[in-house]
Amino acid sequence: MPQNNSPFAQPLHLALDAALEHLDSLDTTSVAATASASELRAQMQKPLNNAPLPAEQVVAELVRDTRGGLHGNPGGRFFGWVIGGSVPASLAADWLTSTWDQNAGMYEVAPAAAIAEEVAGEWLKDILDLPRDASFAFVTGCQMAHVTCLAAARNGLYTKLGLDIEKCGLAGAPPIRILATAHLHSSALRAIRLLGFGTGSIEYIAVDENEQVRADALREALARHRGEPVIVILQAGEIHTGVSDNFAELIPIAKAAGAWVHVDGAFGLWARVSEKLRVQVVGIELADSWATDGHKWLNVPYDSGFAFVRDRDAHRRAFSQKAAYLSTNTETRDQIDWNPEFSRRARGFATYAAIRQLGRSGITEIVENCCRHAYAIVTGIGKMKGARALNKPCLNQGVVQFLDPRSDATAEDHARRTDEVVERILASGEAFFKPSYWKGERVMRVSVCSWQTTDADVARVLRAVENVLRSFEA
Ligand SMILES: Cc1ncc(COP(=O)(O)O)c(C=O)c1O
Repeated sequence: MPQNNSPFAQPLHLALDAALEHLDSLDTTSVAATASASELRAQMQKPLNNAPLPAEQVVAELVRDTRGGLHGNPGGRFFGWVIGGSVPASLAADWLTSTWDQNAGMYEVAPAAAIAEEVAGEWLKDILDLPRDASFAFVTGCQMAHVTCLAAARNGLYTKLGLDIEKCGLAGAPPIRILATAHLHSSALRAIRLLGFGTGSIEYIAVDENEQVRADALREALARHRGEPVIVILQAGEIHTGVSDNFAELIPIAKAAGAWVHVDGAFGLWARVSEKLRVQVVGIELADSWATDGHKWLNVPYDSGFAFVRDRDAHRRAFSQKAAYLSTNTETRDQIDWNPEFSRRARGFATYAAIRQLGRSGITEIVENCCRHAYAIVTGIGKMKGARALNKPCLNQGVVQFLDPRSDATAEDHARRTDEVVERILASGEAFFKPSYWKGERVMRVSVCSWQTTDADVARVLRAVENVLRSFEA
């Protein structure tokens, strides 16, 4: 136990109590935040204090004033966006990460943090069955994993053309062409903007009726851009249906044309951990770089993404940065050589702890359970009067629609009904879903990513949706 006179004792005890109360109440409180923006402002907007405040008062007021403004996404009935929970060891490791407050840029500055990433990076390649000699980086999320991978791609492609792009910059270099699927995630678009390629460099490749990139369309696009530096971006896990591209067919086509193949596998890459599911991502290991998240399916707290790159040298050339006051060491791994940040959070500890707690089989179990639950929710809703399922989830994502019962109802009426149902579900506090557009139709997305979701949660959520549908009849 800490000494009573430690300035940390009271605030940390308060934080522990509040954290446990929050986690324990997830089952009995609204999944959706209940306070409006103006209510939260009224609670949190205070005059800037001139004088210091006692730390315990600050923590107690933070807990009190954020009430109603927190979604219950660490619980089992949150199916909005693609958001995972946090397994206990990983959450605890994340707390320790803040406590230890290591600057995990280099081995010398934070030795244990560097080794944690070194070890966990190798574990991740093993778990995801990626090339064991690929390089890696622990970044803030899949968005920055894209940036990391595509910066390596930029270096690799220009090096092949005899250009030192890190020195000469993009001006004057032949432009990179990006061939991507039409449902390219917006985080990849931002990476493309940040790296100076510009979204105008993207050419969208046609997809088939399953939303997978068509091989003939890819071949034609590659032929049109023969001789240019090309990056092909494929998708493991589309956010509405969970469908992945046919990597085994597409990647060899792209590689034969000299393109760099990058995969957005934010959650879909995790299909690799299941014997049942990995058939959907066969051949993904043939790509040049892979971006994924820890804070989605690995259930690590936020601030956890992973980049993997086949061409280690291109990856290192894109990031390695030396300065006179920083020592170089060859025996251990300096994260600064692989990461976009300089000073950084020692985020490897949380991943290290999640993998240790779950083991290979625990990770597989989470992934398979989430897929089973997504299937049960989507097909369960699909059987309800006034609803229809638009896909049969092959992974952990699905789409449903709610129907206006009037015989002359239009697509707009169904869209309105879908939005109303989502609103009423959120207001019930029983589950959290978000609407979207899919193939031009207004839909409600179902995305299951949390280790906490159980069969009982699924049954409860289906009851809640059923009740909402009945409320329209009253
Ligand atoms: C398919 C896909 N790619 C990329 C991202 C971006 O990931 P992050 O928010 O971790 O940067 C997401 C996030 O939901 C995603 O679903």
